[in-house]
Amino acid sequence: MNVSYRIEQVRSMNKPTARTILVIGATGAMGRPIVSRLLADENNNWHIRAFTCNPESSHAQQLLEMGKEGNRVELFQGDINDSASVAAAMEGVYGVFCNTNFWESCTVSAEREQGLRSLEAARTAGVQHFVYSSLDSCVTLSHGRLPVPHFDSKAAVEHEINWRRSEEFMNQESDGWYSRHVTVLVTLPYIENVKQFAVPEQGTLSDGREGVIFRLPMADAVWPMVALDDIAFFTAHIFAHPEE
Ligand SMILES: NC(=O)c1ccc[n+]([C@@H]2O[C@H](COP(=O)([O-])OP(=O)(O)OC[C@H]3O[C@@H](n4cnc5c(N)ncnc54)[C@H](OP(=O)(O)O)[C@@H]3O)[C@@H](O)[C@H]2O)c1
Repeated sequence: MNVSYRIEQVRSMNKPTARTILVIGATGAMGRPIVSRLLADENNNWHIRAFTCNPESSHAQQLLEMGKEGNRVELFQGDINDSASVAAAMEGVYGVFCNTNFWESCTVSAEREQGLRSLEAARTAGVQHFVYSSLDSCVTLSHGRLPVPHFDSKAAVEHEINWRRSEEFMNQESDGWYSRHVTVLVTLPYIENVKQFAVPEQGTLSDGREGVIFRLPMADAVWPMVALDDIAFFTAHIFAHPEE
């Protein structure tokens, strides 16, 4: 028997039955490449449940199209502010990726609440792997000088996750869910922003030369950024290799 054919046979015999990953924020800039990367993971054959307020939107429909072959994407209509819909979305789910949207409420307390609500709903539903999308705590790193609410609210959820892990460590009776089933993925501003709201402009530099001006008051500090597809790559890797 041809060796490569035999390997293919073994691979297909070992192919796991489809497990579902609920993606909160699936229709957004961060979520769409994540769905695409998860669908491309042939070893895991993920099924995607895309959480959305509006299943009719063009982005929701694009996700359905992406998973058309094998019906691998389903749309779940819900609202992250509604505990019942979040809990219902978790039913039968293996994993959750959660990117909350600060700009929907524009309050630190609401985004923190959304993150904690999703985590608790997942714990109750027995979700095996929850990946929480966080950002650095600017207010902590700058010793209180530079609060950046849409970063700090996500970091507050991460802080709460770590606090619950400490509690689990102390409590022998605990199920250890936050310690064993949650991964925090700290992201950065997207490099794609420089093609959208942070587009650099042609202009005259301070030394008189013509150049390109980035209108952010950064002085000579560096501005770390990440490509959306790199966030997606690492997310798919985290789900595929939970032990790492
Ligand atoms: N821009 C950056 O550089 C950057 C970098 C790192 C992190 N972030 C964070 O990413 C978040 C925004 O995500 P994005 O960049 O993907 O933006 P986006 O393209 O505007 O997408 C927003 C997402 O939030 C979902 N959403 C809004 N309200 C919802 C609700 N009530 N219930 C459930 N889902 C809701 C939307 O889903 P539906 O409309 O389908 O319901 C959509 O999937 C922000 O919190 C931001 O801080 C941004």
